[in-house]
Amino acid sequence: MMSILEIFLVSVKKEVIDLIKVGLIGLGKTGKYIAEGILQQDNMEMVAAICSPNSKKKGMNLGELLGNFKTKVKITTSDELQATIFKTKPDVVVDFSNPQATIKNAVILSKMKVNMVIGTTGFSKEDIDKLQTISYKFKNGIVYAPNITLGVNVIMLLSNIAATILNNYDFQIIEMHYKNKKDSPSGTALKLSDEIEHGLQISGVQNKPIPISSVRAGGVVGKHKVLIIGDEDRIEISHESFSKKAFSLGALNAVNYIYKKSGYYEMKDVLNLKKILHEYIDNLDNEVLSSQI
Ligand SMILES: NC(=O)c1ccc[n+]([C@@H]2O[C@H](COP(=O)([O-])OP(=O)(O)OC[C@H]3O[C@@H](n4cnc5c(N)ncnc54)[C@H](OP(=O)(O)O)[C@@H]3O)[C@@H](O)[C@H]2O)c1
Repeated sequence: MMSILEIFLVSVKKEVIDLIKVGLIGLGKTGKYIAEGILQQDNMEMVAAICSPNSKKKGMNLGELLGNFKTKVKITTSDELQATIFKTKPDVVVDFSNPQATIKNAVILSKMKVNMVIGTTGFSKEDIDKLQTISYKFKNGIVYAPNITLGVNVIMLLSNIAATILNNYDFQIIEMHYKNKKDSPSGTALKLSDEIEHGLQISGVQNKPIPISSVRAGGVVGKHKVLIIGDEDRIEISHESFSKKAFSLGALNAVNYIYKKSGYYEMKDVLNLKKILHEYIDNLDNEVLSSQI
């Protein structure tokens, strides 16, 4: 039988083994919410926080940046990324910076076998292919999540299904964000149009354009609307983020998912949407069967 000390040591060891060491690149409007989220997790330890090379944040304590308390994390810059990773050994690095920086970081981190959650948007198709290729080449894990919230992923799924069913309707996307958002259209709007195109292709409709209108104004956190317009009726599917906290919850979900995995994933993998859909269809089948008995 194990002594109390042995039981204590086993449980401490388990905690140490399961603790996910997390680094964060990009300490801007969204990054700060994510930092707060990570610091509040029992199963995560924030080990590194990385700003841009010429940022005034360099050398600050992360806690001071977030609101006048101390953490053990001193902010370093992305031009010393390799040294920071070598020193702090994160299991997963979350990146919410900008596309050029993220691609550079992804190459360094993948070579060092560090897993990543990429929330940055504004990549070209070639950039996204590159992220996929390096994750396979270096066998680390990458979650590419231009749309990190559960709600946005649900409208992706609904839009895909609607396109499959309503393939003779016209689809348009309207997106609205705060006035200084750098990329336009948003990464989420582009992904939504991919999902709609994919749904249309499944039902045999090729090359139907999906126009996107972008509004940049005031402090809108993020709003996406899919208009589905036919000759006789109109459907709208829309999503609005009220606060950046939803981004933090999504990023934490993705960190837990990619820890110790390798390969390239998207949020629909993290959120297990395929399984949920299969279960939904199975339930429908069961209901039909039981009504026939
Ligand atoms: N996936 C999603 O659902 C989602 C949600 C929200 C935002 N985003 C995306 O996330 C990114 C950041 O958004 P945000 O609203 O937080 O923008 P932001 O406030 O402009 O923050 C970006 C931060 O990245 C830092 N940065 C720039 N170059 C860097 C580099 N080379 N190395 C490290 N840090 C660097 C910036 O500079 P300093 O270090 O000088 O401060 C800044 O603090 C954007 O691409 C945005 O579209 C995605």
